[in-house]
This record gives sequence, structure tokens and C-alpha cells, in this order.
Amino acid sequence: MNGCFITFEGPEGAGKSTNLKIFAELLRAGGCDPLLTREPGGTPIAEGIRELLLAHHSEQMDGDAELLLVFAARAQHLNRLIIPALASGRVVISDRFTDATYAYQGGGRGIDARRIAQLEDWTQGALRPDLTLVLDVPVELGMQRARARSALDRFESEQTAFFEAVRDTYLKRAAAVPERYRVVDASGDLESVRQALEPIAAWVLERWRG
Ligand code: TMP
Repeated sequence: MNGCFITFEGPEGAGKSTNLKIFAELLRAGGCDPLLTREPGGTPIAEGIRELLLAHHSEQMDGDAELLLVFAARAQHLNRLIIPALASGRVVISDRFTDATYAYQGGGRGIDARRIAQLEDWTQGALRPDLTLVLDVPVELGMQRARARSALDRFESEQTAFFEAVRDTYLKRAAAVPERYRVVDASGDLESVRQALEPIAAWVLERWRG
């Protein structure tokens, strides 16, 4: 079996986590047992960094500190979990990865994409996802869904302009390299998103079987 690295991305309230579970079910129905993980997080140390990143603090978090924490968590996650799983031939599905850094720290916070690219090369070498699903939803609808869900974390508490920049960055990245991305309209109901996921899962299964 061929290891295959899939990432799920999208702005807040795109239904990423629910749709990731549906996608994993489609893969299981095809005889595959995907490893499901998330960023920031995925290992105990990386989950500790996630808590630091998402919590509200009495001082403002510096943009570079935020960026470096994201990549510190990623290095741990990659080297301890993702790379060994890919090497053993598993399909790995991560709820967010480096596209989120370009979208949130780059688009949202305004950090130069070249700086992010340097850290990406350093931390990942040549490793990039084989496929990235961008679950796309208009910002207002996504924010409504996020607000209805639970107390807002540090990122979810940002303003509309921040999330417009996040969404815009995802869509631009997807348009620039269409062979690596699939943009899925996540504004409809779960059934319509599921239908969009089915052919993508079939593509992953084919690749995994080799
Ligand atoms: P989530 O559970 O909504 O995916 O929460 C993760 C949050 O972390 C989300 O608001 C996006 C943010 N994030 C970044 O800012 N940069 C990153 O590189 C990653 C992976 C996540």
C-alpha cells in the first residue's frame, strides 16, 4: 500500500471536522484504515502547544512567536506521527496543516509568505500533502456556525476582515496549484458535501492501492 497524505482546510465553521469523519468512513468502506489527526496538535507535546496557541492570554501574542509555535508543533507532529505512518503505507488525514499557516499567519496576520515558505522547507523538507481539500464557506455563514458551537478561541475571536483574508488565501492557493487541491462548497447540507467527497475518496483509494 502507498502512504498518502491528505489535509482538510477551510475557514472557521466550514464543517471540516464533520466532513473529515464522513471522508474517513468512505475510505473505510473501501478497506482502508486512515490515521486521523489534527493541527496544531496530533501528539501530546503538539497538543500542549495547541492549548497555548488557542487560549486567550493577558498579553498579546507576538506574530512571529505564533508562527514559530505553529511550526514547533508541526515538527513534533510530522516526525513523531505523520512521517512514520506514511512510511508504513497508511493514509494520513490531517485536520489542517501548512496551508492554514499561509491562510491565518500569512493572510490573516500579514506575515510575508516567503518567511512561511522558509520554515516550511526547513520543517518539512520536500514533504507536501498529496491532496488538500478546501472546504469553502462564505465568511458570515462560517462565523455564525462557529458562534453557535461554543466559546470562541483566540483565532475565532478575530474580525470579519481577518477571515476574509484567510478564505481568500485558501482559494488563491488552490487556484494556483489545481492538481493538489479540491475546493468543496461546504455551504450546503451534509448530504451535498458528502456527494462531493465520494469521487475524491475514490481517487485516494485508487492511489493508496497503487
Ligand atoms: P480548528 O480546530 O478550528 O482547526 O482550530 C485550529 C485553529 O488554529 C484555527 O483557528 C486555525 C489556527 N491555525 C493557525 O492559525 N495556523 C496553523 O498553521 C494551523 C494549523 C491552525
